[in-house]
Amino acid sequence: MDDRTSRLREAFAARIAQAQSSDALESLRVEYLGKKGHIADLMSSLREVRKEDKKEFGQRVNQLKSQIEAQLVEARDRLEILEEQRMIDQAEDYDVTMPMSLETGSYHPITLIQREMEEIFRTMGFTIEDFSEIVDDYNCFEALNIPPYHPARDMQDTYYLSTGQLLKTHTSAAQNSIMRKYGAPLRAIFPGRCFRNEATDACHENTFFQMEGIMIDKDISISNLIYFMKKMLSEVFGQDVTVRLRPGFFPFVEPGFELDIQCLICGGDGCPSCKNSGWLELCPCGMIHPNVLRYGGIDPEEYTGFAFGLGLTRLAMMKYGIKDIRTLNSGSLSALSQFTGK
Ligand code: PHE
Repeated sequence: MDDRTSRLREAFAARIAQAQSSDALESLRVEYLGKKGHIADLMSSLREVRKEDKKEFGQRVNQLKSQIEAQLVEARDRLEILEEQRMIDQAEDYDVTMPMSLETGSYHPITLIQREMEEIFRTMGFTIEDFSEIVDDYNCFEALNIPPYHPARDMQDTYYLSTGQLLKTHTSAAQNSIMRKYGAPLRAIFPGRCFRNEATDACHENTFFQMEGIMIDKDISISNLIYFMKKMLSEVFGQDVTVRLRPGFFPFVEPGFELDIQCLICGGDGCPSCKNSGWLELCPCGMIHPNVLRYGGIDPEEYTGFAFGLGLTRLAMMKYGIKDIRTLNSGSLSALSQFTGK
């Protein structure tokens, strides 16, 4: 019984060592693993094996089958590497008289807008912070006054990882760490990539950028919030934009607002980029909830603060007139290089 599997194993090893092309590997695969191949043959001879040996025989054949599969994959990879090397060797016979291209790359619109925003806030005394894209439940939800049973968790379809961690659904996930890192008073912005399991269309993407900002000090009020929002928008657009402030609910701010700007693509008439409403939700914001300050180690009796979550991707769309949000992740150089600007 042993004999047949080991003979087959040896024969295969000899054959595969000689196979020098993907065609040769394929015929070897058919010969051994195909419907009428050696392994199938062995399997059908199971009938003739003594009852008490059947189990062991089956195991041996299966083991041999997996070994053959693995060796075929390995051989295929090896051939691919050899083939690549051959192509590289050939390419080295290049023509030195060929004209050279001096084209340079261009910045992604998100990079451009992010740098611009960073500059605006830097001059207003804000520090700029980076934060991981993989966060834990505590930072993304609990520290933001969103306990496990809270219905607000439904607002964000979250990508969970097998480790129990998750891809951050909003830049607010960094609030707690930054409060703990610096304490109060504090002015910080933290741009970052966010992920939500959403169906995509002209104005929704599952991967997008936000830029969070927080300012915490004694006596910070809604008028400070409105001042900074207006200042930021007039600087970035270099023109007056029409904005409106509506009440908005977020468990980590109280009161909370939605700051909308009139769509600059259609001028407010309604188009697919603004869901035909003429307005775009650009910057949810509000006064930081006392619990959130407390979780961040800051005494809410002494300090107050505001927070905003600017939609950096939407801002880029408005600023550069990008009609479909999906263009931004498309990797299409012809589309993206139009926005080089600087
Ligand atoms: N994190 C919220 C969101 O992405 C936005 C927000 C940030 C709201 C800061 C209020 C204050 O939906």
